[in-house]
Amino acid sequence: LMTAAAVTALVSGTQAATAACDEGEIVVKFSHVTNTDKHPKGIAAQLFADRVNEEMDGKACVEVFPNSTLYNDDQVLEAMLNGDVQMAAPSLSKFEQFTKVFRIFDLPFMFVNIEAVDAFQNSDTGQAMKESMVRRGLLGLGFWHNGLTQFSANKPLITPEDAKGLKFRVQPSEVLKANIEQLGASPQPMAFSEVYGALQTGVVDGQENTWSNIYGQKFFEVQDGTTETNHGVLDYMVVTSVDWWESLPEDVRTQMGQILDEVTATRNAAIAEVDADNRQAVLDAGGVIRELTPEQRQAWVDAMKPVWERFEGDVGADNIAAAQEFNA
Ligand code: LMR
Repeated sequence: LMTAAAVTALVSGTQAATAACDEGEIVVKFSHVTNTDKHPKGIAAQLFADRVNEEMDGKACVEVFPNSTLYNDDQVLEAMLNGDVQMAAPSLSKFEQFTKVFRIFDLPFMFVNIEAVDAFQNSDTGQAMKESMVRRGLLGLGFWHNGLTQFSANKPLITPEDAKGLKFRVQPSEVLKANIEQLGASPQPMAFSEVYGALQTGVVDGQENTWSNIYGQKFFEVQDGTTETNHGVLDYMVVTSVDWWESLPEDVRTQMGQILDEVTATRNAAIAEVDADNRQAVLDAGGVIRELTPEQRQAWVDAMKPVWERFEGDVGADNIAAAQEFNA
């Protein structure tokens, strides 16, 4: 069933597609949930569209639908399997129905920085993850960075005990739920587009996200402050449907794949700057950011790290060890 907003978006999207795409071109609908300005995913998706539309003019045409105007992340993968959308880039926490290999990214304090994440994703172990859903009809085309995650709440969070008893919005991931429970708090899975309203009305007390999402969705406006915990990773997998991808003429698939690889490399290399830009934008807009001393941060590590043991069976001790090597 489609919401009224989705129907409206579909209608206006169809009009936009008619304007941007020429007859005979293969139309690629790229659906995502974030804003476009300043956002790592918004920028990358638009760059991909601009390049395909210019370099593959007459052959293919990409239409980007940002801001959950077409689908939420809990609908988009089904829509892709139905052929209603051809590309998306949900966060790695949103693939639980399809694979458990991405759970490693949700384990708390697994990676010390985005460089370590990048190195792990580019290792053989990481690259093999792109094919982990082929059986289920989805093909990963590349990892896109967003960044490390921070906690915010309607009260200051300095020690892990400060989180006790609070309700936190999480993405729909078993590991992310376990992380919150480990703090003595309650996790509330919820679609991204609903988080601002839920924070504003007190349906939840807090949330975890990256600087670009905290700034892009204006979460800082309806929170006491954000604590710079850097406790998790929020990255994306650009996905397509195996059936659709294989149905493309070979030259089209090769050229589009090449453009995507180049966009991925370019935008991932720029992530530190985009992340810092969004952090600064939160401050400039009057948002409160609390930094932790090394000792204060260690208390969060000690409180949350027991979650690793719970998921070691799913994630694999060897994969955890491999990931840790990139932290050096
Ligand atoms: C979230 O739901 O918080 C994120 O996955 C949104 C996004 O795409 O960055």
